[in-house]
Amino acid sequence: MNIENLNLDEILQEIENAKSKEEIERIKNKYLSKKGIFLSIFASFASLTKEEKVSIGARINKMKMSVEDKLKQKELSQFYEEINQRIENEKIDISLPSRKQKLGAKNPFQLVVDDITEFFLNMGYKVADGPEVELDHFNFELLNTPKDHPARDMQDSFFINQNTLLRSHTSAVQAHVMQDAKGQVPIKIICPGKVYRRDNDATHSHQFGQVEGLVIDKNISMGNLMETLTLLLRHLFGKNREVRFRPSYFPFTEPSVEVDVSCFNCNGKGCSLCKDTGWIEILGSGMVHPNVLRLNNFDDKKYQGFAFGIGIDRIAMLKYGIDDIKGIYTNNVEFLEQFAKEGE
Ligand code: DAH
Repeated sequence: MNIENLNLDEILQEIENAKSKEEIERIKNKYLSKKGIFLSIFASFASLTKEEKVSIGARINKMKMSVEDKLKQKELSQFYEEINQRIENEKIDISLPSRKQKLGAKNPFQLVVDDITEFFLNMGYKVADGPEVELDHFNFELLNTPKDHPARDMQDSFFINQNTLLRSHTSAVQAHVMQDAKGQVPIKIICPGKVYRRDNDATHSHQFGQVEGLVIDKNISMGNLMETLTLLLRHLFGKNREVRFRPSYFPFTEPSVEVDVSCFNCNGKGCSLCKDTGWIEILGSGMVHPNVLRLNNFDDKKYQGFAFGIGIDRIAMLKYGIDDIKGIYTNNVEFLEQFAKEGE
């Protein structure tokens, strides 16, 4: 090969025209490999004079460098072309509508728990918790209900052994909270949870829910109790509801009251929902009995408190017009879907 036969512009154009990696590789081999054109020119140097060697050598080296540069450039641009092509090919069309997510519905039981919990959190209460498998000591004894107390009959329950039962009310949590507080005030808690009794009809189930409430501090009066529960019942059943407090009896409160709300179905005139009385019984409450304070290490001369217990299922049934409590527990999807809007 003779240098005079080589035209740098043509070589550069040849590289420029290469369409693939393979073609670039072929051109590289053609010019730059051991058997390539540039080295074969050097091989024919033997017949040249010293001056010719210097001047032709310099020209070839210059050409060779230009070819090498051009090849590098071409390789790089081809690399980017390839990447861009891949990005183009693998593009995801995010404008496609996504698959619809089907939202479930909250069980009406949970709707009531959430509603009542939020109401009390806004009033500065904390949420407390306690075991569902409970000691007789906490479920009854510490709540002023000793072994032979007739009030136990109303909570005929599931005993695991002589001293252990499935708690029959969330009031047991009162005892836990007071014991943990070690005589320190203020206490201001609610406890939503499951409770168990030997009950079974359209409005009662062996498992149901209650929200317990307990406040202990200095200067707590019946007025605080009445104000709190009136606000709660108006929150749950409407701001125009009347609230009525009837004397009642619970071993752990003195005085004790049963709290009714004026019927939201007939506005107090009398209907089948309120059994023609105009009132609907909602919950039990009272001032914490001094014995309960003492049994749980609180000074009953210094502190007072009030407590209440609300049936969650009963509120759900009243609010949403559910006539069989089993609806709440049998996970019937059609039943639950009715409450989809309520949870939003
Ligand atoms: N534990 C009672 C029950 O299950 C409800 C109750 C009444 C709770 C009065 C209280 C209360 O805290 O003060 O029937």
